[in-house]
Amino acid sequence: MQVFNNARIACPGAETGPTPPSEPMAIATEDARIAWIGKVSDLPGRFASAPRSDLGGRLVTPGLIDCHTHVVFGGDRAREFEMRLEGASYEDIARAGGGILSSVRDTRAASEEALLDQALPRVDALLAEGVTTLEIKSGYGLEVETELKMLRVARRIARVRPVSVRTTWLAAHALPPEYAADRAAYLREVVIAGMDRAHAEGLVDAVDGFCEGIAFSPEEMDLVFGHAAGLGLPVKLHAEQLSDGGGAVLAARHGAISADHLEYLGDNGVAAMAASGTVAVLLPGAFYTLRETKLPPVAALRRAGVPIALATDCNPGTSPLTSLLLAMNMGATLFRITPSECLAGVTVNAARALGLDDRGAIRPGLRADLAVWDIARPAELSYRIGFNPLHARIVGGELV
Ligand code: NIG
Ligand code: FE
Repeated sequence: MQVFNNARIACPGAETGPTPPSEPMAIATEDARIAWIGKVSDLPGRFASAPRSDLGGRLVTPGLIDCHTHVVFGGDRAREFEMRLEGASYEDIARAGGGILSSVRDTRAASEEALLDQALPRVDALLAEGVTTLEIKSGYGLEVETELKMLRVARRIARVRPVSVRTTWLAAHALPPEYAADRAAYLREVVIAGMDRAHAEGLVDAVDGFCEGIAFSPEEMDLVFGHAAGLGLPVKLHAEQLSDGGGAVLAARHGAISADHLEYLGDNGVAAMAASGTVAVLLPGAFYTLRETKLPPVAALRRAGVPIALATDCNPGTSPLTSLLLAMNMGATLFRITPSECLAGVTVNAARALGLDDRGAIRPGLRADLAVWDIARPAELSYRIGFNPLHARIVGGELV
């Protein structure tokens, strides 16, 4: 049991702004949950003897949720960055055996220990900006053992750092060269057989795929999602990143919790996502890195009532980004997402994109995952560039 005194509470989506400084609020926690919220002067007697921390009138938001990352990988792709500056496109590089496949070579060669050591500085950068829940995908193994190794590293991150980790099986990320002649065998022997292993070992919370001309078709993903459903695993999809291939419609048909990227999403995709309650996860770091010019259809998503989330997409190729605050700024500046939508996009809607209903807002009963900021207004989180106003994180009721 713990009481956090003297907070100004900013809840995502609230039009009224944070509670004013004249009304210092208290948040009482118990068993990692928020037990009570109210004016300091109204604190119920049962919390009277609980330890107290004074938040000094600072602004408190839900802990941030980075709902789309590939933060576990071997090596880096700085050379590919140079090649793109010399004129090569992301697709050119992928077709020439670089891109995702170059990270696959480095990830296969790295030990579990080495992958953990390489991922932790990236994770620490995210946590330093208020992240309390982090999604991590496999997808740089493209063989069963390495995909499982990546997810073991992801699970270990949650044991060595104060953060919740949700893991995602992304073996359908690219076709490895050894299966070039037999796509169906790859899906059967690696994507599906590996999913069974990951599930049996408790390593996987959701299933994802890269639905694109250079990766997998909607028909292939249909098969993968059908298998995920049989295991009771929720699905999500990298869709419409480089072209409109019908990925979002397929994802919606499977009741996907999210469809991600979506620059090339058409009206039928928007309508399908609205009907299925699928969250649109926008990834401005990849848009920026690839110097994409086609904007995701934000106005249409808004009109249709599709919840919008924002994430870093932290990965070695298209988004070497370890700042969720910068993703919020880019969401606002590049995609015209309002600061209040940006905050909802990294809290309540990001939770939904992970299928989590126990976090992402500040309410009794939810997990006591909070971020405490040295700012006056929540809009400052997306307004400033390259500045970190985090004062502290509260993870499962513990100040860290
Ligand atoms: O989210 N779109 C596909 N997957 C990653 C990029 C992976 C890579 O290039 O390493 C993404 O952008
Ligand atoms: Fe991604």
